Amino acid sequence: MQPIIWENGCLKLIDQTKLPLEKIYIQCKDHQSVADAIREMRVRGAPAIGAAAAYGMVLGARDLDDRDKEEWFKGLDEIAEILKQTRPTAVNLFWAIERMLSTARSKKHLGIREIQDILEFEAEKIAREDVESNYAIGRHGNQLIPQKANILTHCNAGALATVDYGTALGVIRAARSAGKDIHVFVDETRPFLQGARLTAFELMEEGIPSTLITDNMAGYIMSKGMVDLVIVGADRIAANGDVANKIGTYTLAVLAREHNIPFYVAAPISTIDMNIEKGEDIPIEERNHDEVVYIQGKRIAPENVKVFNPAFDVTPDKLITAIITDRGIIRPPYKDALKEITGGTKNDYQDQGEDN
Ligand code: MRU
Repeated sequence: MQPIIWENGCLKLIDQTKLPLEKIYIQCKDHQSVADAIREMRVRGAPAIGAAAAYGMVLGARDLDDRDKEEWFKGLDEIAEILKQTRPTAVNLFWAIERMLSTARSKKHLGIREIQDILEFEAEKIAREDVESNYAIGRHGNQLIPQKANILTHCNAGALATVDYGTALGVIRAARSAGKDIHVFVDETRPFLQGARLTAFELMEEGIPSTLITDNMAGYIMSKGMVDLVIVGADRIAANGDVANKIGTYTLAVLAREHNIPFYVAAPISTIDMNIEKGEDIPIEERNHDEVVYIQGKRIAPENVKVFNPAFDVTPDKLITAIITDRGIIRPPYKDALKEITGGTKNDYQDQGEDN
């Protein structure tokens, strides 16, 4: 399943707000339509929004007036800002945009046409590398999966959340390809229903046995011995190993600890933010209250009800059994392990959605 396709200078995205009822691609021909698609979650999932934003930079760079190079670079910074302001939590977005900006800056001595081509090449490289990372995550993660396993997952960390294959679902796919007997419990993931709409759809398309549950059923099935392990994705991993992921992830980690069930996080290196020391410093997106008050356009709560809608939560490192990355599996203490696996690199992810 390819949620992101770059074709003839146009970005095609599966409109994930329409799944599973309709599988249609929208076409983004400029950076603004890419920014809108990310904000409206037509494309979502940390690696997927990073790759989409990289293509957004390509589209924006192509449309800028190219008569004055200094002005052109200023315009590129403005486009980067517009794309950065879409969603604040997943660091892959800032990582990809910064990578595109620094690629352009490093080629400042070349002509604008050449820089545009180099940016397109870089975006395609980001997309390609994402798929390679996910296969590597799958290979490493497969070592943690028993021959027969009931796995609980949350949100969608599948092909739809990446350029292809997925992170948490990448591990599940790899285990399945290795001939293991896998069954997946899919948390519906209120309020945006990424589990019910996207993960259930992905697993069923591939014939991987799965059962949909509502989020509040997880404790019950764990207490009945029906879950062997939990595996989720991540939107941002702080330098100490705290993990921001879809709202409800923390609840699952607490439940898993209570029931002695391993709790794994699968994510590429681009999700690790060495600039952020601990989870409480990760910006948490709050989304429109209508997502809580309406289900599929139907109001389910009283008019004027007070609502809180944080889109992510933070799971403290102490609840995480292991983090599966494309460079290998890391275990506590995460601070040292993350430093080692990333080389301790601190990147410049300026303005991480402060105004969102
Ligand atoms: O709000 P979303 O749907 O973008 O949130 C997605 C998640 O929380 C995923 O678990 C995370 O991005 C990892 S995707 C490989």
